[in-house]
Amino acid sequence: MTKVTHVVLPGMVERKRGAILNIGSGAAVVIPSDPLYAVYAATKAYVDQFSKCLYVEYKGKGIDVQCQVPLYVATKMASIRRSSFLIPSADTYARAALRWLGYEKRCTPYWPHSLVWFMASLLPETVVDNWRLGFCLGIRKRGMLKESKKKEQ
Ligand SMILES: NC(=O)c1ccc[n+]([C@@H]2O[C@H](COP(=O)([O-])OP(=O)(O)OC[C@H]3O[C@@H](n4cnc5c(N)ncnc54)[C@H](OP(=O)(O)O)[C@@H]3O)[C@@H](O)[C@H]2O)c1
Repeated sequence: MTKVTHVVLPGMVERKRGAILNIGSGAAVVIPSDPLYAVYAATKAYVDQFSKCLYVEYKGKGIDVQCQVPLYVATKMASIRRSSFLIPSADTYARAALRWLGYEKRCTPYWPHSLVWFMASLLPETVVDNWRLGFCLGIRKRGMLKESKKKEQ
């Protein structure tokens, strides 16, 4: 992201227009911590702050820099096959994402995600932290079980 931005920005400055859309994550913004995903969450915090700084630097030059903050989307990376109301497909997310381009420096374009964000913000941090730790430990346990079954075969 950093290198691509470095390459495309000079052309945008010359043309006095452009848009940069970076994909952050709820892992760095919506939940207070993402235990067991420390590097991922920290990387997404970088994406968030990087985008906010560039937004301020370049908004006067006609360039929109936006960091989008999705929660779960049904993709290969998330290992979620089926979409649902709270977990959109990549297509549904992308459609919502493009509608928000040029509006805010940071946004959550798929509105049910914003709803979850709001609900999470009402809870004490320790409650969310403990829920997340339990949730992630469950993912790791299932992953390790899958791996050991594979090795047995
Ligand atoms: N899915 C979620 O729940 C979720 C939630 C929050 C944020 N995000 C963020 O959304 C973004 C997209 O993730 P996704 O969920 O859509 O995952 P995905 O379906 O696995 O897609 C990741 C894409 O990145 C490409 N890619 C991976 N490494 C690359 C590299 N070194 N150079 C160039 N392209 C590379 C992959 O290409 P190939 O197909 O060729 O491998 C693939 O097209 C990520 O930044 C992720 O952190 C996702």
